[in-house]
Amino acid sequence: GKGGWKSFDERDLLISYNALKVLEARYLLKDPNTLRYIETPQMMFRRVARHLASVEPQERRREYEEKFYEIMSSLKFVPNTPALMNSGTRLGILSACFVLPVRDSMTTKNGDGIYDTLRAMALVHQQGGGTGFDFSELRPKGDVVASTAGVASGPVSFMKIFDVSTDVVKQGGKRRGANMGVMHVWHADVEDFIKAKTGELKDVQLQNFNISVGVYDYFMNAVERGAEVPVITPRKTKIPGTDYDYYIVRARNYMDEEWVQEEILRELEERGSIYLDESRIITVDEALVIAEREGAVVKWVNARTLFNEVVKGAWDSGDPGLLFIDEINRRHPAWYLGKIQATNPCGEEPLLPWESCNLGSLNLEKFVVDGRIDWNGLAETIRYAVRFLDNVVDANRYPLRQIEEATKRTRKVGLGVMGLARMLIKLGIPYDSVDAVFLSYQLAKFIYYHALHTSVELAKEKGSFPAYDPVRYRDIWETARDLQELLSTAGVHGEPSEYVRKLTAEVNKLDFSTLKDMRLRYGLRNATVVSVAPTGTISIIAGTSSSIEPLFALAFIRNVAVGRFMEIDPLFLDYLRRYELDTPEVVKKIAESGEVGDNPFIPKTIRKLFRTAHEVPPMFHVLHQAAWQQWNDSGTSKTINLRSEETTETVERVYMTAWKLGIKGITVYRDKSKSQQVIYFGIKK
Ligand code: CDP
Repeated sequence: GKGGWKSFDERDLLISYNALKVLEARYLLKDPNTLRYIETPQMMFRRVARHLASVEPQERRREYEEKFYEIMSSLKFVPNTPALMNSGTRLGILSACFVLPVRDSMTTKNGDGIYDTLRAMALVHQQGGGTGFDFSELRPKGDVVASTAGVASGPVSFMKIFDVSTDVVKQGGKRRGANMGVMHVWHADVEDFIKAKTGELKDVQLQNFNISVGVYDYFMNAVERGAEVPVITPRKTKIPGTDYDYYIVRARNYMDEEWVQEEILRELEERGSIYLDESRIITVDEALVIAEREGAVVKWVNARTLFNEVVKGAWDSGDPGLLFIDEINRRHPAWYLGKIQATNPCGEEPLLPWESCNLGSLNLEKFVVDGRIDWNGLAETIRYAVRFLDNVVDANRYPLRQIEEATKRTRKVGLGVMGLARMLIKLGIPYDSVDAVFLSYQLAKFIYYHALHTSVELAKEKGSFPAYDPVRYRDIWETARDLQELLSTAGVHGEPSEYVRKLTAEVNKLDFSTLKDMRLRYGLRNATVVSVAPTGTISIIAGTSSSIEPLFALAFIRNVAVGRFMEIDPLFLDYLRRYELDTPEVVKKIAESGEVGDNPFIPKTIRKLFRTAHEVPPMFHVLHQAAWQQWNDSGTSKTINLRSEETTETVERVYMTAWKLGIKGITVYRDKSKSQQVIYFGIKK
């Protein structure tokens, strides 16, 4: 390959000790009989590269295998865990993200009844995928069950079954299953749902779930005004000649928008049950009148009271988060395929029912070369990374027909990033600065542009995704907010410096409207192309900071399934050396708290540059998330880490501002608020 890397062993030297530990414990293949390792890290990358090149035409396979191997083994790009673990093995799932529908029935012909979905979840978890569900269609607790004249248990009870099943079916025996449980704010059980993981249920109930309340603009506006909102039972009501009570509940939030009317009309037509007043679909008010008449409105609650409960829960335990359903659907490029109701476990993939998505992340740190950003190298890596991810859609072996059909219809892929914090440090830019947010914004734009560009080229070569509609497809870059708007909404003042403008001048050359012409001409291979995932494990493998997060701590103990690791950030150690501060006493002191804080013996430059997750002001966390979300056709996963002494007012401000910034979903985590986190966690000493 390039750069004189000839043998396996040389490239293995890029792998850190911690990375090796993780690879050994879970990724490197073993002989099932002797339990001895049968591959090295390089052999793993080779296995993955070969597998993903195998869907290319025979004569190009070798070439793509080399390229795929090259970007992975140099740690510039790492695909999500299932692709690393399962490529070329008996297990066939290569994707990390799934959303499964849950209908209000035990089983259905379509295989989306409660117990059908439970089974589907087990199949996905078994092979290392994570699952998200919207439970809002389930009738509330205490409602009537017609077939047995009994009483319904409600969505939260059913979620508990999903939770227990997750415990039992560990992901490929290698990691803990992860779920996202969503309930929309109009549901009659929403108060129970909000409290399902807090107070005395904290650390006890639904431990394999992240939970999020699906909220809408109408609700957030009502919160601001202190207005009342109805909560509704989604149980089927008897509207003459139809069974579309469900549409009343759903539609009422959307009636104002013309495109939604069109969508509902189409759906209703398909079901052969149109409920029209003359030629119109009913209005919000009319829907409400019908809902009331049919006994669907359970009660009216004060939106602010409900919101405060959410905030209190999140402050207390990190759950629930919020999903902004309107924003998710407004900026869903393939909106015409239906309404998105849920996301995968960490929120980076809002998906339609049965859809799955595979992820992979660029290691930004690797693109800092001599104090500059290697934009050409980045663009080239993006090209192969997107091709790789697109190939995953074909190389995947899907556990269920419905998943295969939904996934192949849109061919969604999610190229993300990791190592942002370390890139910033290498460039001398503190995470909590306007410059850093500007850099995030520019990087996101650049990556999105090149990912989309690649997808257009792939369409030219291999065809568009089957559900591609050139006219209705929505170009999300047209609705990206500019940086100044984000800053002023968040109440942060300042302009990016000359230094960071120069650093990113390349980005200003991008021409999105020409790209749009190309898309119209050649098509598009993937309904979505980017997604910012947490990179919990792959960032360890790549030896960099995770996702777009600031450094978690400068020295800390990391608990992973295979053991406890003490880590001192190597970049930080470098800086200490530079100032001759790398003495055992200093290091020990820092390891105790994980941060330099305002230690007067540490130079100010270091203190500013190495501010950790809990030292970064919450608004800067939110701003980075907002910056990445602007140039992202799916979601941006981020944990807004808060100090343990932060108050509920901070959580409230974060949640409100997130909505105003056009973020699709938001989660906070207040230090020490739980005994452990769902997915991975570092414990500060
Ligand atoms: O770094 P890695 O590829 O292992 O995963 P991640 O970026 O931390 O998480 C990406 C997605 O993988 C999550 O949003 C989940 O959908 C899934 N995941 C899971 O199913 N189980 C876990 N224990 C961790 C992640």
